Amino acid sequence: MNKDTYEMGLPLIKKAGVEHKINFIQSPALSVLDELLEDHENRGSFAFAFVDADKVNYQKYHERLWQLLKAALKILSSRDEFKI
Ligand SMILES: C[S@@+](CC[C@H](N)C(=O)[O-])C[C@H]1O[C@@H](n2cnc3c(N)ncnc32)[C@H](O)[C@@H]1O
Repeated sequence: MNKDTYEMGLPLIKKAGVEHKINFIQSPALSVLDELLEDHENRGSFAFAFVDADKVNYQKYHERLWQLLKAALKILSSRDEFKI
């Protein structure tokens, strides 16, 4: 994610009172997902994912997010082919 974009949205995030729920990480996303997967407690613990970048690697995001998300919930992406 781009920090400038995050900061642009930050006033709205604060207004909504959800800033404490956001852990902003500025990093290539695949390596972050791999780090999350190293802790088994993270598996099946996420309710929602939205992917909107790095489109050539969407299959890799799908493989990792499938393990991190709670069963039967959706991975949303900006392309239809990886919606479940
Ligand atoms: C299409 S924009 C996403 C916009 C975002 N969905 C929003 O509504 O603000 C793509 C963003 O993903 C970031 N990005 C591109 N490749 C990335 C990657 N491999 N890992 C993490 N972020 C990446 C870019 O820096 C850019 O900020």
